[in-house]
Amino acid sequence: MFKTVEWKNNTVLMIDQRLLPEKEVYRRYRSHKDVAGAIKDMVVRGAPAIGVAAAMGAALGALRIKAVDTKDFRKEFDKVTGLIASARPTAVNLFWAIERMRGVVKSSPGLDVAALKKRLVKEALTMHREDIEINRLIGRHGGRLLKSGSAVLTHCNAGALATAGYGTALGVIRGAIEQKKRIKVYADETRPFLQGARLTAWELKKDGIDVTLITDNMAGYMMKKGLIGSVVVGADRIAANGDVANKIGTYTVAVLAREHGIPFYVAAPLSTIDLKTPHGDLIPIEERDPSEVTHIQKRRIAPKGVGVRNPAFDVTPARLVTGIITEKGVVRAPYKKGLKALFK
Ligand code: MRU
Repeated sequence: MFKTVEWKNNTVLMIDQRLLPEKEVYRRYRSHKDVAGAIKDMVVRGAPAIGVAAAMGAALGALRIKAVDTKDFRKEFDKVTGLIASARPTAVNLFWAIERMRGVVKSSPGLDVAALKKRLVKEALTMHREDIEINRLIGRHGGRLLKSGSAVLTHCNAGALATAGYGTALGVIRGAIEQKKRIKVYADETRPFLQGARLTAWELKKDGIDVTLITDNMAGYMMKKGLIGSVVVGADRIAANGDVANKIGTYTVAVLAREHGIPFYVAAPLSTIDLKTPHGDLIPIEERDPSEVTHIQKRRIAPKGVGVRNPAFDVTPARLVTGIITEKGVVRAPYKKGLKALFK
């Protein structure tokens, strides 16, 4: 199995997701600046994977801080994490990971710089390990919701490539299969970055899971034909009221699912839940480069000079969400109460 993000000999290794499925290329990062660049450029993507990469980037940055005095070290570490935090705005896991790394420094006033550096590397490795364990739990809880012999529609890639391993939405599918259920997957292509076609189809095929690729505009047709039993997607940020920010096009799928009476599930770890953001309208939505829309794999498909919008995420209102599958179990409406209770 491939490794999405890995700590090796005080460097960070990542599979370059921009090149999949044609090429499996691993890139090695030695500085936090380069890790921030890799997050921005989508070498690594998917909320939990971004979080783990950010933590490892912060650890890399810490190792290279020259200060010997802990006060100076802290100041430098704030700069390191500040730069990583500016990489992408929507996935809250990035900020969650940085807060957790900053927390290590804050909660260890007695440690000298060398010990702090060790602790930070250890924390990043712990976050990597925990993410896989969390996804397995999500898979176990979510797997129970899927019927054997049914088909699941998923959007974007919320798989092993979007996490430290196993995946959230694809973790639910893996969990159901481990529970000996027969599951067929329909993967939305996911324009413009094609995470569904390039990444979900690739990792499910590699795993021997029955996957059929469709373009985004085919989802309604498939639902109307009775071919979809449920929808399972990941999330980049879940507001306190249960509104879900996820890959652009998720909202459309949720509306279609409601129209056809199909359950719409969101699979996400607690690190994706942002109780500080009351509702989805307050979630910052990243707007990416127009060339992602005007070009496919560097080939122009639209006239030069055409106006373009490229919001990378949308928000699905909580009322369209059948359940949120977390490592602590499945939360259903009313979400405000249920999500808050997860953190008690
Ligand atoms: O722009 P991306 O590829 O980082 O967006 C990824 C998604 O929207 C995923 O669905 C989400 O991060 C959940 S990943 C487990």
